[in-house]
Amino acid sequence: MSGPLVVLVGPMGVGKSTVGQLLADRLGAGYRDTDDDIVEEQGRSIAEIFVDEGEDAFRAIEKEAVRRAIAAHDGVLALGGGAILDPGTRALLAGQRVVYLSMDVEEAVRRTGLNAARPLLAVNPRKQWRELMEARRPLYEGIATAVVATDGRTPEDVAQAALDAL
Ligand code: S3P
Repeated sequence: MSGPLVVLVGPMGVGKSTVGQLLADRLGAGYRDTDDDIVEEQGRSIAEIFVDEGEDAFRAIEKEAVRRAIAAHDGVLALGGGAILDPGTRALLAGQRVVYLSMDVEEAVRRTGLNAARPLLAVNPRKQWRELMEARRPLYEGIATAVVATDGRTPEDVAQAALDAL
C-alpha cells in the first residue's frame, strides 16, 4: 500500500505530535503534520486563518493538505483535531491505517487548560470540550482502524500501544 504507514487522528492536545514523533522514530520513518504543512504553505498561523476566513475555509485548505500529505508521505502522518469533520477529508482516509488517540473530557481540560491559542477553546473550555467530543467521537471511531486511550499514560506508553495496534 502506498501512502502513510499510519495516520494519527484525535482531539487537539491529545499528543498527536509527541506520540507521532516517537512512533516515527520507533518505525524508522518520517513524521509529518498537516497543521505544519498548512502554516508553511499559507505563511500564517492556523488561528489567523480561522479569524481571517472562518472555519469552513480552513477545512477546505486542510482537506487539500491532507490529500497532498497522503499522496506524498510514507511515514507517520498526524492530522489536526478537526480534520475528520469534513466528509471529503474522511473519504481520503478510507483504506488507510488510522489510529485514533482518545482522551476523556477531564483529561482534555487538564492538558489544554485555558490555551486561547487554540481557536476552538477560547471560551469556557470544559463546555466546549464536552460538545466537541460528543460531536467528534463518532467520526473518529467511524474512520479509525485502531483506538488507543491516552488517559493517564505517558507519550512513550501511548506510542508503544499504537505500535502494538498496527
Ligand atoms: C483544530 C485542531 C488543531 C488545528 C485547528 C483546529 C480542531 O490541530 O487544526 O486549531 O478543530 O480541533 P491540533 O489537533 O493539532 O491541535
